Amino acid sequence: MASHKVPEPYVWDESFQTFYARVDNDHIVLFEAIFDVHNQPNSDSAVGHMEGVMAAHFNNEEKMMSAADYGGLAEHKKQHDHFMNVINEIRTPVHVGEITFCKEWLVNHIKNTDFKYKGLLLEN
Ligand code: FEO
Repeated sequence: MASHKVPEPYVWDESFQTFYARVDNDHIVLFEAIFDVHNQPNSDSAVGHMEGVMAAHFNNEEKMMSAADYGGLAEHKKQHDHFMNVINEIRTPVHVGEITFCKEWLVNHIKNTDFKYKGLLLEN
């Protein structure tokens, strides 16, 4: 899998566009949630918020893939589930390595995996 550049500061930009408004709006929130953990590594609420918005987004995206009978759903869902298993174990104080992992995972997941469904889902 290609490894993509992590934005610094950690803010969504147009290179992450899927052109599904719901997905792009979710992704903006995910970037913000990870950046909040970066800025407040001792905050249980920032970690909880990050886990919550990730789970909600994955659920939304999986429903959209399912509604479109997208063939890559099972493999894609595995990646979501694996990431959730990892971040659900994160405790404060969050280590720099864990924050870097989350930042890199999201950037690469969007560009290597989410981008595969571009043009194939139903919602605009
Ligand atoms: Fe947008 Fe597959 O996460």
